[in-house]
Amino acid sequence: MQDKNNTRIYSGATPSEVMEDLQPLVNFQEEGISADKLDKMLKERLLPHLMKYDHPNFLSMFNDFPEEGAKIGAKLALEYNQGVTDWYVSPGGTMLEELCIKALCSLFGLEAGSDGTFMYSGTYANQEALYLALHWKAEQEGFDFAKEGLKGFEHPERLVLLTSFDAHFSLKHAIRMLGLGENNLITLNVDANRRIDLLQLQKSVLQIQETHDVFCVVATTGTTSTGSIDNVLEISKLCQRIGVWLHVDGAYGLAYSLVPEYRDRFYGIEFADSVSWDPHKQFGIPIPNSILFVRRKEDFNRMVLRSDYIYREGESVPSPGLKSPPSTRPFSALSLVTSIRYQGISKVLDRLRSPVEAIEAAFNSLKNDSEIELCNRPETGILCFRINNKKISEDQMNDFLKEVYEEVITEGKHSISFTKLDSKAVLRIVAISPTDAETLLKTISYVKKKAELVAERGLQL
Ligand SMILES: Cc1ncc(COP(=O)(O)O)c(C=O)c1O
Repeated sequence: MQDKNNTRIYSGATPSEVMEDLQPLVNFQEEGISADKLDKMLKERLLPHLMKYDHPNFLSMFNDFPEEGAKIGAKLALEYNQGVTDWYVSPGGTMLEELCIKALCSLFGLEAGSDGTFMYSGTYANQEALYLALHWKAEQEGFDFAKEGLKGFEHPERLVLLTSFDAHFSLKHAIRMLGLGENNLITLNVDANRRIDLLQLQKSVLQIQETHDVFCVVATTGTTSTGSIDNVLEISKLCQRIGVWLHVDGAYGLAYSLVPEYRDRFYGIEFADSVSWDPHKQFGIPIPNSILFVRRKEDFNRMVLRSDYIYREGESVPSPGLKSPPSTRPFSALSLVTSIRYQGISKVLDRLRSPVEAIEAAFNSLKNDSEIELCNRPETGILCFRINNKKISEDQMNDFLKEVYEEVITEGKHSISFTKLDSKAVLRIVAISPTDAETLLKTISYVKKKAELVAERGLQL
């Protein structure tokens, strides 16, 4: 068997080399080619350039390889190609989605009246959550948002969304696409471990309300850069006090709330009005697979659009497609159901614990390493760090780390990521699938060697 530690995570080819290899694939011709020929072509030209998420040194992103049980459902979903719109399009598909959502609400400890819908991605789940929040705000002001839109608000320009400085950029997409614009998104400072600074939130909400109408607060349980978990319980109390919709973006981190030892980090999610989650991240469910939960199932009534050919008035059959915009919807529930049944909850939890424990252990063993500056105290599976090097001044540090990152990525044997916390560049490792501290530390040692090399030869950027 090949030792994956010595193999590449992808070919390492440049964009122009990849283009050259792939061009013949899109040379569409009058006549077809045999399945064998097609297979050979794909193996030679495409597969080397795909990222191997099951490689132990793939530590850069939230992508996971498909879990074995998930593959069982994914194969069936492909074979039958079910559209999960309403009962008449797929009786089994729609019923399984509704049952799966109910079971998940209970697994995540959401309230009895909660509900959910499968979405294409966390981005769309966040967008729908903000739409629901605006709708709710409009109801408080006595008009129907579905009919009147933003024009119904007396002062639409005053509407704002509050969220963490570290929130995912999908919220910017959402606020743009809802017609509000990025100026209507106010970011809040974060504390030392990059969670929303509660004191600042409490103070600034009062100030902000003097000039703006807050329609939604978004807390993140597992931020993209550092995996930090906002204090949802305290934020939910504030939202209740001021009567504002609370959305929790749990696209990355919510899965970890299932682990009993980590549950207290997520207290308060049950009080959120809506919560998003991406099973296509560390659950290893085939992409795309996301869910938007709401605390009161009636909240989805705001999404309902009926027609004469599907979703007919007066019919009470399972219609999950009424809860989100697409009418043709994939059979997303099936692979999630088969994955959880195949593993059993106890293995699901082991799979979730492993990367978090590995990151925690790596953090502890690096605490006294003078070459490494640790930049976050991990709450989930992400560790950000900088490399200390006597030859590199603080002014050069951002360029230095970018160059170290490029050096690591180009070789294709280890995959890490590069980001900025405020304006400070950091390197980042993400443990998404089961792993151990030894594997993570090997990558960090490799990064240190590359850093030494870059420092020796001098910066080139
Ligand atoms: C916290 C958070 N929210 C939202 C998203 C967007 O999710 P998706 O990539 O499924 O659109 C991400 C993606 O990484 C994320 O980390």
